[in-house]
Amino acid sequence: MVYLDNNATTPLRDEVKKSYINALNIWGNPSSIHAKGQQAKSKVDEARRNVANLFNVRSEQIIFTSGGSEANALALRGVMEASDDRRLVISPIEHPSVYKMAKAMEEENICIVSELLVNSSGVVNIGSLEAFLKKNDVALVSVMYANNETGVIQPIGKISDLCLQYGVALHVDAVQVAGKIPLDFIKLNVDLLSVSFHKMGGPKGAGALIVNPKISMKAVQIGGGQERNRRAGTENVPAIIAAGTTANEVASKMDEEYKHITNLHNLLEVGLKDISTDITIVAEKSNRIATTTCFITKNLNAETALMALDIAGICVSSGSACSSGKVEPSYVLTSCGYTKEQALSALRISIAKQNTQEDINYFLNEFRKIK
Ligand SMILES: Cc1ncc(COP(=O)(O)O)c(C=O)c1O
Repeated sequence: MVYLDNNATTPLRDEVKKSYINALNIWGNPSSIHAKGQQAKSKVDEARRNVANLFNVRSEQIIFTSGGSEANALALRGVMEASDDRRLVISPIEHPSVYKMAKAMEEENICIVSELLVNSSGVVNIGSLEAFLKKNDVALVSVMYANNETGVIQPIGKISDLCLQYGVALHVDAVQVAGKIPLDFIKLNVDLLSVSFHKMGGPKGAGALIVNPKISMKAVQIGGGQERNRRAGTENVPAIIAAGTTANEVASKMDEEYKHITNLHNLLEVGLKDISTDITIVAEKSNRIATTTCFITKNLNAETALMALDIAGICVSSGSACSSGKVEPSYVLTSCGYTKEQALSALRISIAKQNTQEDINYFLNEFRKIK
C-alpha cells in the first residue's frame, strides 16, 4: 500500500511506538500524591519539557490537549470568554476546528466573527487585517500557519507584527507544520500556537496549546486543577509520554526529513505536470509547505479518482467534504476563487518522511491511467 494522506494522519515513528507501548505500564493518576501517581507525574513532566524544548518555551506554557481541534477550541473560546472585546478575526480558509468553532461561538453570542480577505492562493490580505485591527474591538486574530488542503503558508511574521502594533492577541494553528519545519515560539512572536502529535509520527489523542503567559484565558473544560487549571481532566498519560518522545525524535531529525520530503515533492509536481496540461497545481507559485500538493484536473471527478486509486492500493484525499450523503466542494478552494467543478476535481497528496521515490512514481503511473 502507498500511503500519501499524511496530512490526515501519519504512522507512528518506531521510537514513539516503543515508548507508547512501555508507557501503557505507567497507569497511575498524575494528580495522586502517592508513589504510583508521582511516577506518572514525573513522566508527564518529562514529556512536557521535551515538547517545550521543541518549541523553545517553558514547560508551564504547554497545555496538553486531546489534539489540534481541542487546542484550537481552547484558544478561541478561552481567549474570547476572558476578553471584554468582542471581535474575533479569522481567515475564510481556516480548518473547520477554527472556522466552524468561530461561527458556533458567534451563534452563542460570545463574539462577532470577521473574515479576512484572501488572494487566489488563499494568502491573507494584510490590508484587510489592519482595517479590522483599527476598529479597536478585536480580542483575537486566528490565522493558520499552513493550510491543510493546499499547503499554502501565511505571512505569519507580518501578521504578528501588526497584531503586536495594535496590542491584539494572535493565535496560530500550526498543526500542519509542527514537527516538519522549525517553530520557535519566541521568534514567531505569537500568543497561542496549536500543535497535534499524530500529524508528525506521534500518537493520536495528544496535542498541545502553547500559550504566552501574558494572555488571559478561561478554561473551557472545568473540573480538577490539571494543566494549571486550564484544562481539567485526568491526563492521557501514555499519549503524552509518546508525544514527548515524538518531540525529541523530530527535534533531531527534522532537517534531514524535510529535505527528503522536499525532494519527493519536486518529483511529484514535475511528474504531475508531465502527465497533462489539464492538471493545475493549486497555488503553485506561492510559498507552500513541501508536504502538501493539491491539484485540480479538467473533467475529473475526485471521488471517482479516489476510489480508483484506492483499488490500486494508493491512499490520497480529496478536498471535498461529504455531508449528509452529498459531496460538497472544499470551501478553501472556493474561497480562493475556484469553481465548484474545479473544487470537486481536487486531489491532495500529502507526503511524510516514510515515503519513497517508488511511492511517488507508483502514484504518478496509476494516476496517468485514470486521468
Ligand atoms: C490545520 C489543522 N488544524 C487542526 C486540525 C485538527 O487536528 P486533530 O486531528 O489533532 O484534532 C487539523 C487536522 O487535520 C489540521 O489540518
